[in-house]
Amino acid sequence: PGPRRYEAENAGYTPGSTVDTNHTGYSGSGFVNTPNAVGAHVEWTVTATAAGPATLTIGYANGTTTDRPLDITVNGTTVATGVPFAGTGAWTAWRTVVVPAALRAGANTVRATATTANGAANLDYLDG
Ligand code: GCU
Repeated sequence: PGPRRYEAENAGYTPGSTVDTNHTGYSGSGFVNTPNAVGAHVEWTVTATAAGPATLTIGYANGTTTDRPLDITVNGTTVATGVPFAGTGAWTAWRTVVVPAALRAGANTVRATATTANGAANLDYLDG
C-alpha cells in the first residue's frame, strides 16, 4: 500500500491553534493554524507496518514571503532541523515538503516545531 494520509486537524497541536477552513484547497476538513510563536507545533501519530526508512510528506501553505522553518522529531529524536517551509505565494496555494526519516514498526510520534516567531505555516497533512 502507498503512504497513509494523516490530516493535521486530526493530529495533536499546540494550545491556541485553530482548525481553519478559510483558505481553500486544503485536504480533509481543514488545516491547522498554529500560534505565531517559537515552539508552536503539530504532532502526528504515524503507523508503520515495518521498521525502516520512510518518506514523510507535509502539505502546507505559507502566504507570506518569509520562510517558516520547522524542526522535525520522530519519537523524540530530531531527524531534521530548520526544514524550510517557504512562501507558497498565497494562503490558498498548497505545496509539500519531504522529510526522509526512519520509522519503527507500529506507532511513531512525528512532531514539527516552529523555530521562529512567525510560527508554523498553515499545516494540512502528513503523508507517511
Ligand atoms: C493570516 C492567515 C492565516 C495564517 C496567518 C499567519 O492571518 O489568514 O491563515 O495562519 O496569517 O500568519 O500565520
